[in-house]
Amino acid sequence: MIDIKNLSKIYNLNQNNQVVALDNVSLTVEDGQMLAVSGPSGSGKSTLLNVLAGNLKYDSGEYFYNDKNIARLNNKELAIFRNREIGMVFQNNLLLENNTVFENVELPLLFAKGINKAKRKELCEKALEKASMLEYEGREVKKLSGGQKQRVAIARAIVNLPNTILADEPTGSLDSKMKQDIMSLFKKINENGTTVIIVSHDDFVIDCCGSSVSIKDGKLSQIIKN
Ligand SMILES: Nc1ncnc2c1ncn2[C@@H]1O[C@H](COP(=O)(O)OP(=O)(O)OP(=O)(O)O)[C@@H](O)[C@H]1O
Ligand SMILES: [Mg+2]
Repeated sequence: MIDIKNLSKIYNLNQNNQVVALDNVSLTVEDGQMLAVSGPSGSGKSTLLNVLAGNLKYDSGEYFYNDKNIARLNNKELAIFRNREIGMVFQNNLLLENNTVFENVELPLLFAKGINKAKRKELCEKALEKASMLEYEGREVKKLSGGQKQRVAIARAIVNLPNTILADEPTGSLDSKMKQDIMSLFKKINENGTTVIIVSHDDFVIDCCGSSVSIKDGKLSQIIKN
C-alpha cells in the first residue's frame, strides 16, 4: 500500500524562483488499485510520480510504502526499493534508441544483479510476450512505431515483476486504436494484482482506471471511484 501524508515538494527552496510543485498532498493507494492522476500542465503530476518512485526527495510530510518510511532509506536501500518494487514508464519513454528491444527490457535485470543470463532471457521474453512485442525483440528501438516503443517501455517496467507500475502519459502521442491497446495491456497487468498509477489528461484513459484524482497547483483532489 502507498500512503503519503501532508507531503510537499518545493523546487529551488528559498530562492527567488521557488516552485511549490506538491502542496501538502495526502493520498492512499491500495494494493491492486488502478488510479488515474489528471491535471493541467505544470500542476505537479510528474513530480508526484517521481516522489512515489523514490526518484525525488521531498521537503516535508511522509511517504510510506508497505509501512516502509521511504525517507529513512539510504541510497543503496532506495536503489533496491526502486528496482524491486517499482516499474516506471517515463513521460518520454527514455528508451535507448540504438539498442535492441531485448537489450532495453533487460536493463533493470542487469541493475538487479545476480540474475543469470538464462533467467534474464526468460523474464524478458515473458514481459515482451505480455506486451505483444516478442516478435520484435531483436529490432533496434529507433525502427519501431510510437505505439510499439510505448509497449517496450511497459515491458521494461514490468520485467522485474514489480508490485507497482507508475506511468507518465503513456498514451500521450498515440492514436485512439493504439491508446486502447495500451490501456488493455495496463488493465491486464492490473488484473494480475499489480497496482497501476497512470498520469493522463485523456478522458478515455481516466475512464479505464477504476479510480482517479486530479491535481492543480500541487494540490490533490479526493479520490473519485469510477
Ligand atoms: N527540476 C525542476 N526544477 C525546478 N522546477 C521544476 C522542476 N521540475 C518541475 N518543476 C516545476 O514544478 C511544477 C510541476 O512540474 P511537473 O513536471 O510535476 O508538472 P506536470 O503536471 O507533470 O506537467 P506536464 O503535464 O506538462 O508534464 C512546474 O511548475 C514545473 O515548472
Ligand atoms: Mg509531466
